[in-house]
Amino acid sequence: MNTSHDGTFGSTNGRRPIWILGVTGASGMPYVIRLLDLLEQCCEEVHVVFSEAALRVLQEEQGVKLRPARMDCEALIGRKSRSVYFYSNRDIGAAIASGSFLTDGMVIAPLSMGTLGAVANGLCSNLIHRAADVVIKEGRRLVLVPRETPLSSIHLENMLTLARNQARIVPAMPGFYQNPETIDDLVDMMVMKILDQMGIHRELVPRWGADRPSGGEHQVEKASQHLSQGRVATVFGLPMREEDEER
Ligand SMILES: Cc1cc2nc3c(=O)[nH]c(=O)nc-3n(C[C@H](O)[C@H](O)[C@H](O)COP(=O)(O)O)c2cc1C
Repeated sequence: MNTSHDGTFGSTNGRRPIWILGVTGASGMPYVIRLLDLLEQCCEEVHVVFSEAALRVLQEEQGVKLRPARMDCEALIGRKSRSVYFYSNRDIGAAIASGSFLTDGMVIAPLSMGTLGAVANGLCSNLIHRAADVVIKEGRRLVLVPRETPLSSIHLENMLTLARNQARIVPAMPGFYQNPETIDDLVDMMVMKILDQMGIHRELVPRWGADRPSGGEHQVEKASQHLSQGRVATVFGLPMREEDEER
């Protein structure tokens, strides 16, 4: 398999890519739902593994209760799929545990500090760790979406180790310069960044400067209009300061 990416949406030299999605127990399940929704549409196959902690966080954040033995695509993205395969994190004999099973790479989103430490140190104590280890040793693409704050020097050193091994580190840190109006906008901005690093380009939110070649001034003007209209201040439907309401 040729694993180079040609830059078109969901296409790798004309064919649809095959990705592994590892989901670990960090905060950020809305990213997972949106990412899986899009990967299901554009990939030939998506091989998905949730850690036990991820299932716990999924229940806390999305109210979706799933068991490792009964993973359900419909419960996650609202439809069944023949291209999404689920594995137990204990199944160290799964296809994705071997380098001979060809994939374009693996994305771990969100990435807990526990799994970050395991992958950075080559531990292979579950399927997510092992699949990531395989992707690194085979020189395939590893996209990591760590989420924790604040970060300790242990976390930072583990990320540096992996960045030096060609992993793409995409912290779950959505920006505000595209004037998000809803949480969905923030999720989409983050997911677009993740997909970009996977070589899958999708216009989920307007890209900076996309509407005009030298878009800087225009965007600043747009942002200040939003501010004066109080839009940024009510991003989550809550006024930030009393004087915003009085204006
Ligand atoms: C609701 C909830 C939110 C959590 N958020 C984070 C987080 O943002 N980052 C993190 O590193 N760990 C977080 N944790 C802790 C991890 O889930 C925990 O360290 C777990 O052992 C990670 O296991 P895993 O890497 O196998 O998924 C959270 C736990 C819970 C229950």
